[in-house]
Amino acid sequence: IVKNRIIDIFSRIGFSVSEGPEIEDDWHNFTALNLPEYHPARDMQDTFFLEKNPDWMLRTHTSSVQIRHMEQNQPPIRILSPGRVYRNEAISARSHCFFHQIEGLYIDKNVSFADLKQVIQYFTTELFGKSEIRLRPSYFPFTEPSAEIDISCFICHGAGCNICKHTGWVEIAGSGMVHPNVLRNSGVDPEEFTGFAFGMGIERVTMLRYGIDDLRLFS
Ligand code: DAH
Repeated sequence: IVKNRIIDIFSRIGFSVSEGPEIEDDWHNFTALNLPEYHPARDMQDTFFLEKNPDWMLRTHTSSVQIRHMEQNQPPIRILSPGRVYRNEAISARSHCFFHQIEGLYIDKNVSFADLKQVIQYFTTELFGKSEIRLRPSYFPFTEPSAEIDISCFICHGAGCNICKHTGWVEIAGSGMVHPNVLRNSGVDPEEFTGFAFGMGIERVTMLRYGIDDLRLFS
């Protein structure tokens, strides 16, 4: 339900859905996203590799679909890529090691950081109602500059609660301007085009939207 709601909100501003495979190769999950072999940031995501051939893996994020889509399509590009992703991290004995993300990608001439901010503000207002967003400087290999997107806590409205860990803000997505290397790796000319990307966890957004306080309730 939440996935469809997110797709519906973005489709009103011209985004369409583009999906990719859950079993992914090294190029699309890592290398083309500016994470060459031995890049330390590969450890940010604990990967399930296929035993018989570690060039193949269960995708750790939906960012891989950015590459696949740009390889097949020239800008203007406005896509959303929802789907299941896998991480080798046991949160609890019952945890499934998979969850769902939704990736956004917008590539065109003259796309700026201001466009990213406005699109995210539009989205959070549509999904959560009146809300403030905050962009915190961050690092992702595939974006430069990068930002973590926080939304003002609409459970306690800043008073402090367990959901926002008494900060008044909750993180909902990673984002940034697509790194020129990523564009180049996918066959898009970074001299001509710029763009932004973001990725968020669907379970996480659902927990916030409906005040669910335990991730394990989804398993
Ligand atoms: N792929 C990142 C993750 O799984 C999330 C993300 C961050 C996606 C920044 C993006 C982005 O497209 O720009 O943690």
